[in-house]
Order: sequence, then C-alpha cells, then structure tokens
Amino acid sequence: MIHLNRKISDVGFSKDNIDHLGNKYLIGNGYMGIRGTAEEYTAELHPAINLSGVYDRAPGKWRESVNAPNGLYCLLHADGERLALPEKEPRFHEQSLDLAAGLHGRRTLWRVGETGVTVESERFASMADPHAILQRYVVSVDREAELTLDSGIDSEVWDINGGHFSSVSLTEREGILSAECRTIEQGIVVTVLVGEKAPVVGETVKEGGKLLKRYRFRAEPLVSYVFEKTVTVCTSRDEDAVGLPTMLDYEEAKRRHTACWDRIWYRSEVQIEGDDEAELALNYSIYHLNCIAPRSGGVRSIPARGLSGQVYKGAIFWDTEMFMFDYFLFTDPDVAKRLLRYRITTLPGAMEKAAEYGWRGAFYAWESQEGGLDACTDYNITDVFTGRPVRTYFRDKQVHVSAAMVYALVRYLEVTGDRSVLREGGNRMLLECARFYHSLLVRYVGRDFYEIHDVVGPDEYHERVNNNAYTNRMARFTLEQAACLLRDDPICTEEERLGFLEAAKRLKVPQPDPETGLIEQFDGYFRLEDASVETLRSRLIDPREYWGGADGVASHTQVNKQADVAAMLGMFPEDYPTDVMEKNWLYYEPRTEHGSSLSACMFALLACYIGRPDYAYPLFMKSAQQDYLPGSKLWLGLIFIGGTHPAAAGGAWMVASRGFAGLSIRNGCPAASKPQLPEGWARLRFRILCRGKSYLVTATAEKTLIEEEQT
Ligand code: BGC
Repeated sequence: MIHLNRKISDVGFSKDNIDHLGNKYLIGNGYMGIRGTAEEYTAELHPAINLSGVYDRAPGKWRESVNAPNGLYCLLHADGERLALPEKEPRFHEQSLDLAAGLHGRRTLWRVGETGVTVESERFASMADPHAILQRYVVSVDREAELTLDSGIDSEVWDINGGHFSSVSLTEREGILSAECRTIEQGIVVTVLVGEKAPVVGETVKEGGKLLKRYRFRAEPLVSYVFEKTVTVCTSRDEDAVGLPTMLDYEEAKRRHTACWDRIWYRSEVQIEGDDEAELALNYSIYHLNCIAPRSGGVRSIPARGLSGQVYKGAIFWDTEMFMFDYFLFTDPDVAKRLLRYRITTLPGAMEKAAEYGWRGAFYAWESQEGGLDACTDYNITDVFTGRPVRTYFRDKQVHVSAAMVYALVRYLEVTGDRSVLREGGNRMLLECARFYHSLLVRYVGRDFYEIHDVVGPDEYHERVNNNAYTNRMARFTLEQAACLLRDDPICTEEERLGFLEAAKRLKVPQPDPETGLIEQFDGYFRLEDASVETLRSRLIDPREYWGGADGVASHTQVNKQADVAAMLGMFPEDYPTDVMEKNWLYYEPRTEHGSSLSACMFALLACYIGRPDYAYPLFMKSAQQDYLPGSKLWLGLIFIGGTHPAAAGGAWMVASRGFAGLSIRNGCPAASKPQLPEGWARLRFRILCRGKSYLVTATAEKTLIEEEQT
C-alpha cells in the first residue's frame, strides 16, 4: 500500500505566520523536535531544538523542558547586505515538508541591487541517529557577488521560563564547533556539536552567544555553493551518547533516515479514497505523532505540545494515554510500551502526590515531568485584568488522570496480548490507581452507594464539582480492572480485591434521565444558566480571558470547555443505547466551546457511534488539521499556549479507526461494526497490528473488511 509521496508547502512570507509555521513544519525524531523556522532566526522568532525529557527550573520560574543551543543557525550577507527574514523582504519564499521522508525544505530568493540571491536548504532530524540533525544550505547568485555566510551555533535560545543554563562554553576543537551548557537546577550538561563541510575555507568567530564559521567568498553566477552540517545533540543523561560521530555523510545519512520513515509509513499510512484533503490531514497528523514518539534512550513519553517547545512546561498530560496511545498501540506497540513504562517508572512520584493530599495509592501528575513530578502549580493561570496568578484546581482536583493510565494499560493488554508489562510494574501501577480511587470514595450515612466529590472533570471550566460522570465512570473502570487483573496476584489481597469490586458496583455513575435521556455532567449541572457559547463570547471583556475559575464567563453556566459526558460515552459506547448517546451529543455539543484541541475528536467519535458521520466529519477535520491550518488558540489568560497538538492528531486517528471504520477488539481479535464513512469517501484503508499479526483494514460504505496479512 505505500502511496505516500506528499510534499506540503507554503509559498510567500508573512511575519504573522512565523509561530504557526514553526509548528506546522516541525521535524523530529522523538529525541528532539526542531521547530520549522528559518536558519537565520534568533530567539525572538522562536526557533527551538526542544529536548524530550530534559527539564530545568530557573530561579522563581516554572519548571519546563530545555531547548538546546541552535546548531542550525546560518546567516547570509550579500554585497554587505544582511539577508534575513523577516526584515529583508524576499522576492520569493517557500517552506516545505516532505512528509514521506521527514525532510524540511526552504527556498528564498532575495534581490540585492541587481543581483538575485537564492538560498535553498534541507534538513532532517535523523530517525536512524537520534542525536543527529543534518542540514544542507545551498547558496547561488545570478550575478557575481561578495557573500559572507555565518554558520554555527547560537546559544541564545528561546525560553518561556528561562534561561536554563548556568554556564555556556563555546569552543572549537579540530574544526568542530561546540557549545557545552550546564542546566541550573540539576547541572545536566547539554552539548551541541557542529561539524561542517564547506566549499570554501572559513574562519572561526565568536559573536555574543554565537560561535560561527565565517565563510567569505566571491560567488560566481549559476554555481551552487553547498554547505552541509551535522549537528550532534546530547546530554550528560544520555547513556547512548558515547563516541557519536561529529560529521556524517549527508546523502548516506539521508538514505538511512528515509529508510526508517519508509518503515514507519508502511505501518502507518492511511488511504482515503474520495477525499484527498482528509487523507492529507490525517497522514499529516500521523507524521507529527511519529516525529515525537520516543523510540530510543531513557524513560520518555510525549508532552502535550509534542516537542514543539516549552508550552505547558514540556509536560506529559492524560493526552498521551487517552488520545495518542491508540495510534501507537496499533502501529508500533513498542512505542506504546515505552509510553506505559514512563508511567510505571514514575509511579513513585504519583504515590508521593497522592500522599501529599492525604489519599492512598497513585495520583498521577496533571503535568508530569521526570520522576512523575507534577509541574502544575496551584496558580496556573494569570488573570488578564490584574496580572495576578489565579488559584486553579488542575493539579489537585483532576483526579481522572490516574484512570487514564489504567485505560491505556488495559488497551495494551487487549491489543498486544503482552502481559509482561503487568509483571514489569503494570500490576503495581494498577493496584495503586485503584487504591487511589478507593480512598476518594464518599458515602453518606444511610446511603448504599459511593460518590466522588470535589473534582474537576475534563471540562475544566467547572471546578470542585461532585460526581462528575466521566471521572466516576473511569474510577469504576479502574476498580473493576484491578479486581479482575489482580486476581491471584500476590500484590493484592483477596480482601482488598473484593473491596475494589464492591466499590465499583456501588459507585454512583450519573445515569440517563428516564424522560430526557440526558446524563448530568455533575451534580447540579442542569441547574446552571443555560447560555450559549456565543452569548458567553459576547460577555468577554478581553478575548484572552480565562472562561473558567471563580469568575470566568462559563463557570456559572452550562457551557463546557471540552468533551466531558461525550468523552465518557466515546470511551464506553457499549454502556448506553444509541438514542441515549444521540440525545447527549445533541445536548452537549452546542454547549461546548471546544476550547481545547482534545474536544472535537471525542464528539466526532461519539457522532460515529450514533450513526452520524455527517456530524463527525467537520469535527474530525478540525482535529486532523489542528496544526496544519492557522488559528489555534494561543493564550490561556496571559499564558502562551501555542505549539503543536498531538492529542488532536491521535484523536483524529482514533476517529478514523474506531469511528469511521468501526474497529474494535473482541476477545483479542480485531472486529468491526458497521462502518460510518463520511459522504464522498469511497474507501478507507489502513494497517493495524494486533497480537503480533498484521491486518489490512478496508472500510467501504457497506462493510469493513479485516484481512490478515503475511508479515
Ligand atoms: C485541556 C486539558 C489538556 C491540556 C493539555 C488543556 O487545555 O483542557 O484537557 O490535557 O490542555 O493538552
């Protein structure tokens, strides 16, 4: 099947698009993400080589992921004139991405007097050598010109809560430029080495935070001057970073890199006959997921903004387990296992957090960094009007996060059949999550059921509510799974196991009203003002205002930030008849702002379950094109939240597979209900892995066929 030969590009240049294109044209290999910025950009234009799993805290600031010095930096002068976007207007500019091969491209033409100067560059974050980025920078002129190219390392990186280096040492050794930086908090050494191959001899110069090779030469017309560099990035934490080569052969490295992408696409490509736009959007989403998937090195997972920068502190959220996990599970279970391992390894952090609040078991971090440390602060939003931090309850009340780990673990067991993960600590993680929910249960005297009080559900606009349907259903799931999977496991006594079972049975999960079919999102939700999203928008004084919290425009109304009851129905469609799901879709969707990129895919999935692909389609496209199109939300109060949205990307895959194709797992085998293809889709086709076997899934209007393939 592999038809993917896709290049996307943006022609023209606008200063206003710099941040969006930085996300859209990201490249990465799971070890690092490199924003799609021009080589000459400096910190204020947000270039970044964002490192996975490396964090630091600058004094008095939020702890966040670390950006390495920019070894891709290049700046050209022609006849004394500085050729740099955005100040020097180009005659032509194109930025491109070859999705099939993970190659970033750029072509810019400037005019200097009568002379045309063209820069063409290509770069990739090697999938074969996780510490290497390769870049080719080609200059040509149409008349003779005096050129100066500065190429090297810019150590003045873009930081949101930085700077992160207590020391920066810029040196040159045997022609290799080196930046060695030490982080403030833990003294992690981040090293960037640049080896260059150039057609002319350069001199080494140091200018401020830059260490450069300066190449001065007289350029002849119609000659291509090719400068290649290998940028090696590693940290003192990396066990695999010994003896890394500092100069790779560009073409050879590219061949090995593209061979890796070929293998990825063989398993991952999705074909949608009859809808090129959707096909591109979905494969584009898959491209992004693969750029950030941890495939090598230590214990890592995927942050909420991927590796596009430090937004959300580079931290890992429930997004990974509930939205991205399925894609990896079905296409690369090794990555799925790594994601689980991250949570298993960070269990001590989750247990510490539970204990901090007086609960038992494991309360996973809302914003998880290494060791499971919760980077979320109690004041995680800044008020637009006063500039003061606002007390938020993301950290202490979003208790549903622990259940996401269990959901992913159970999916992993179902789809792979690999129970080794239980022995490797999955059982302990499950037990501690069940203990956590068990300790949260509240029972009023005289009642025979349990409740969970004082939580924040996925819809964050309503804080400290009781009996949030999603939270309670996920808690019940956790207790049931623990009771089932820990049977005969000596880590759990029979008494405790039966306690979980009893709790699961008696835990209140809000049920559909017998007359309306509606499920109340939490106790008292239906008594709130029933205002529309548009009305709330008109009540805003500042467009960046936070809608939730004590004084938010949504807090005292029924308007939600994101799918909540819909998320519960989407995850447990077998619990309810179709008409109940439909009534709830129709009620909640118009009352949802979709203020989070996690929202649209959940509603799209539920729309498929009620047989309405026409409702699902625009929401699916919204998810799949979240980073492809401009317009993503950039502010939460005064906090910048721009970056890529891998949960939306994973959510789009989930809609295509579980929703449009009707894929499910029954008794360890892939199965399919009636497909729900959107109008115009003649055929939807993709591969999955299940229990070591490869299947080709082909959905047409009538039926979804699942054929086993020889591997
Ligand atoms: C959403 C959360 C999500 C986080 C990171 C927030 O805006 O409300 O559900 O986990 O973003 O993506």
